[in-house]
Amino acid sequence: MRIPNESISYWKDHEAPLAFPPLQENITADAVIVGGGITGILTAWKLSKEGKQVALIEAGRLTDGTTGFTTAKVTAQHSLIYDKLIRTFGEEKARLYYEANEEAIAFLKQTVDELNIECDFTPQDAYVYITTGEMRPMLEKELKAYEKLGINGGLAGDAAQMNLPFQVEEALVMRNQAQFHPVKFLEALVQDMAGRVQIFEGTRAEAVDGNAVKTTDGYKLIGEHIVVASHFPFNDFDGAYFAKLHPERSYAIGVKSEHPLKAGMYISEDKPSRSVRYATMENGEQLLIIGGENHPAGNSKQETIRHFEELAEFAEQYFGAKEIRYRWSAQDLITLDRVPYIGRNHDNLYVATGYAKWGMTGGTVAANLITDLIVKGDSRYKELYDPKREKMKPADIKTFVAQNAKVAKDLVSGKLKRPSITVDALLPGEGGVVEVDGKKTGAYKDETGHCHLVDITCTHMGCETTWNDAERSWDCPCHGSRFSYDGKVLEGPAIKPLEKR
Ligand SMILES: Cc1cc2nc3c(=O)[nH]c(=O)nc-3n(C[C@H](O)[C@H](O)[C@H](O)COP(=O)(O)OP(=O)(O)OC[C@H]3O[C@@H](n4cnc5c(N)ncnc54)[C@H](O)[C@@H]3O)c2cc1C
Ligand code: FES
Repeated sequence: MRIPNESISYWKDHEAPLAFPPLQENITADAVIVGGGITGILTAWKLSKEGKQVALIEAGRLTDGTTGFTTAKVTAQHSLIYDKLIRTFGEEKARLYYEANEEAIAFLKQTVDELNIECDFTPQDAYVYITTGEMRPMLEKELKAYEKLGINGGLAGDAAQMNLPFQVEEALVMRNQAQFHPVKFLEALVQDMAGRVQIFEGTRAEAVDGNAVKTTDGYKLIGEHIVVASHFPFNDFDGAYFAKLHPERSYAIGVKSEHPLKAGMYISEDKPSRSVRYATMENGEQLLIIGGENHPAGNSKQETIRHFEELAEFAEQYFGAKEIRYRWSAQDLITLDRVPYIGRNHDNLYVATGYAKWGMTGGTVAANLITDLIVKGDSRYKELYDPKREKMKPADIKTFVAQNAKVAKDLVSGKLKRPSITVDALLPGEGGVVEVDGKKTGAYKDETGHCHLVDITCTHMGCETTWNDAERSWDCPCHGSRFSYDGKVLEGPAIKPLEKR
């Protein structure tokens, strides 16, 4: 099957109904929100419903971050997590985690109903499955955790096998979960709040000074409360997020398949990771969405386009897929203990990040939690998600040390490697690291043969970016910043573009 040349997300494949101009003056609001993904939009919507004056800024276009490139399962089944949560935090907090996510699902459904939003919100059972016996002990421990916590689900019996066209060894089901079209949902919220919330696209936050957010264009947004919903916090705010979060990239394809999926949303626990759900397209046909191929961002062991090929082979072999309509990739952030960092960072500043690929519910939990902190001054979830939770467990410390060692290695390792190709050897449409005047340089030769040369040193903390051939971008292995082939910031925490050569 041919892999489409350009990345195109199914969720972004329609005319966006509204566009907003950049900020061009200083403004004041009750709450300033940085980042227009699910977290930022939902928080802005909720706060504005509570009568708060809200300003929302987005560096690019709304929903162009990870939210527009997700697979949009809405579930509290975050792969196998509850046994680990019980071991790390105890039964009470593990149950709170489940309840926070179940509340998030109920809140999304209620909002869809209230505003009558056409976003294909459909109840679905969620399944985590294994295809070999190796992971059975893990699944059995998770089953026990389900039983302890009173989770609505358990062993799936034949249900997963009936829907999946390959051998399933065992599966756990969580009932009454959901799937939706996240961008249509959020666009409806944006439309609903456009008269109440001041929204600015093309406006990048650079720093926070007291209660003011400063933009790269030199304007200020002064807010009683500041919510950092920029995925990776655009500033560290002494939270050590650069050491506590690691970015992981994943891939998805949307295919027309010979064997439609009747029901359910699926994720494998064994390797290679595979995620399966369907979406109903506007013409009523089913689009099968297959995801997986996770790897640390900026650190793929093979050309990134190969990851789409692997998904395509899986889709063809098991689902009789004939055509790839869409393909996209994105990254999400993972915390040391896999529980997101949501809440007050200091004073009037809140952060929400680290959803470990479960940000449809995670971002909704964040909107609920932060709104409660701002409006009521409290939330029953605040300790569980506390971004400054300090008592690191031995396992977290191990992850912390490993993560920092990896970043330190990434900081120097790229610098030692010598480029293996020259600019002349690049074909049109190809990029890579080359040597120019004795200096290591990032080069991309466009279709007209013009070469775009950049310094590949990441402007965040100086790691060396690597070439992502599928997205034609320079990706940083340390904290996940991404830059276009000519150096523009695509994704933070970096604020400044790569230097041109
Ligand atoms: C392939 C893939 C599949 C996934 N599937 C699922 C799934 O099935 N279910 C699920 O629950 N979750 C899933 N996730 C996770 C989920 O998509 C994310 O956790 C969620 O979208 C993150 O939302 P966000 O609002 O935090 O970030 P984003 O959507 O990235 O929004 C952050 C926004 O902030 C903006 N920004 C950044 N820096 C600045 C700045 N300095 N100034 C102004 N704006 C700034 C960015 O441009 C961006 O638009 C998946 C993730 C991936 C990668
Ligand atoms: S993202 Fe931090 S050094 Fe590149």
